[in-house]
Amino acid sequence: MAKLNNKDFARLFEFITGEFGFKMPDLKRIMLQSRLQKRVKDLGYTNFSDYIDYFFSKKGMEEEFMHMIDIVSTNKTDFFRENEHFEYMMHTLLPDLYPNGKKGNLKFWSAGCSSGEEPYSLAMVLAEYRIGNPLIDEVYPTPFVFDVVFYQNVLIYFDRGMQEKIILKLCSRIKNEGYLFLGHSESIAGLNLPLKHIQPTIFMKT
Ligand SMILES: C[S@@+](CC[C@H](N)C(=O)[O-])C[C@H]1O[C@@H](n2cnc3c(N)ncnc32)[C@H](O)[C@@H]1O
Repeated sequence: MAKLNNKDFARLFEFITGEFGFKMPDLKRIMLQSRLQKRVKDLGYTNFSDYIDYFFSKKGMEEEFMHMIDIVSTNKTDFFRENEHFEYMMHTLLPDLYPNGKKGNLKFWSAGCSSGEEPYSLAMVLAEYRIGNPLIDEVYPTPFVFDVVFYQNVLIYFDRGMQEKIILKLCSRIKNEGYLFLGHSESIAGLNLPLKHIQPTIFMKT
């Protein structure tokens, strides 16, 4: 297959950084080309330009948008990734949220969860605590307001301005005194957000 040419790369790069808000100084043409290759072939295109014309068409925007997010973002995940957070849930947060074994109807959200290992880890911790845990697969915007939101290892892909916007949106979906968990390499220091620091990467909505 012919290479992704400079013009098509520039169109896509502008879209990915502008529309998705991804900060991608290291988004190289070769990397994008190799990540796109399979999708282009699977859709039956024989060159990148035809696929990119389709992507920017009205139909392409409707049908390909989520695929493009998956192609350009990193989907690495694992069960009990950021294990300290699950330990904190088990030993501190859940005893606090469910005092004296009281069972309430609480909502937990694993946002940006890739193939789902994170919500299943959460469900396992809740099951350990004998809390019923129906899992729901929702696409944002969600109608719910949550007691606990995990948003781990997603923020790193965005620039500071976009990070603030995203976390503000997430905060509008967290109950007052509800919790937000970020990944260990992520920082929201210096951003203007209604969050109180509990311990590194664990925050309470104020
Ligand atoms: C590295 S994975 C993290 C998965 C999981 N939270 C964990 O820590 O194991 C990043 C996830 O964020 C999602 N993501 C990145 N940007 C997104 C966006 N703009 N909208 C929706 N999901 C996005 C990706 O699709 C991927 O599932």
